[in-house]
Amino acid sequence: MTITVEPLGHEVGAQVTGVERGQLLDDDTLAGILPRALEEYGVLVFRDLHLEAETQVAFCRKLGEIDTEPGHHPVEGIYRVSLDTTKNSSANYLRATFDWHIDGCTPQDDAYPQMATVLTAKAVAASGGETEFASTYKAFDNLTEAERTRLAALRVVHSLEASQRPVTPDPTPEQLAAWRRRPTREHPLIWTHRSGRRSLVLGASADHVVDIDPDESRALLDDLLHRCTAPEHVYRHEWSVGDTVIWDNRGVIHRAAPYEPGSPREMLRTTVLGDEPIS
Ligand SMILES: [Fe+2]
Repeated sequence: MTITVEPLGHEVGAQVTGVERGQLLDDDTLAGILPRALEEYGVLVFRDLHLEAETQVAFCRKLGEIDTEPGHHPVEGIYRVSLDTTKNSSANYLRATFDWHIDGCTPQDDAYPQMATVLTAKAVAASGGETEFASTYKAFDNLTEAERTRLAALRVVHSLEASQRPVTPDPTPEQLAAWRRRPTREHPLIWTHRSGRRSLVLGASADHVVDIDPDESRALLDDLLHRCTAPEHVYRHEWSVGDTVIWDNRGVIHRAAPYEPGSPREMLRTTVLGDEPIS
């Protein structure tokens, strides 16, 4: 079968067809096509792939080093995304994924933001649970020259607390202490990548712009996020069981549409670690 990569009609996202599961591990042509397509389209969608956990992990290892922290799943390299606390004891933290974010802006250690994330749908929600994507490269491209010049000098403090507060506005003292144990990070607002492309570093973890008035800071971050994620810029993935989606976390911002905590929705996630600092 011929492998095709077709844009999904948005600024971000393409569907890959003509790929069999086994090819993900064995086909060197594919190993050449996918990283380039990921860089170009930001999000790649494979329908009906029905990837097993082990195959997903092996495929991701071909893309780079992966996160092997325990993930509430028996297969190393898999993190089980579920709001059901019997399946994932950290499920409450996942509600923050209902807001736009880039993974890995406030790591526990010195890790760089993840390079790519792969999700496979094992079970889907009866309603909600779609995943939305917008390109932060396009968000930069759509700025005026004057804005680019102004924003180039700005730095932003990111924190776990900023991303958790919207979903848990009245934290217990223990929750607050846990959030604050995670170090805050200061990143430039504009990320100049090794490739030369530039993107905006936005999302729920963005707490405030350094050295400007707090109200002005909030208004600026909100405006940039709003423009980046306006409906005409967004690809919304409606999940079917067996879908696999991979996205370039360095140039794409994402969020999940809310769904019920009792929902059977279950995603298997593998994270390909990043090797590029935000600079
Ligand atoms: Fe995420």
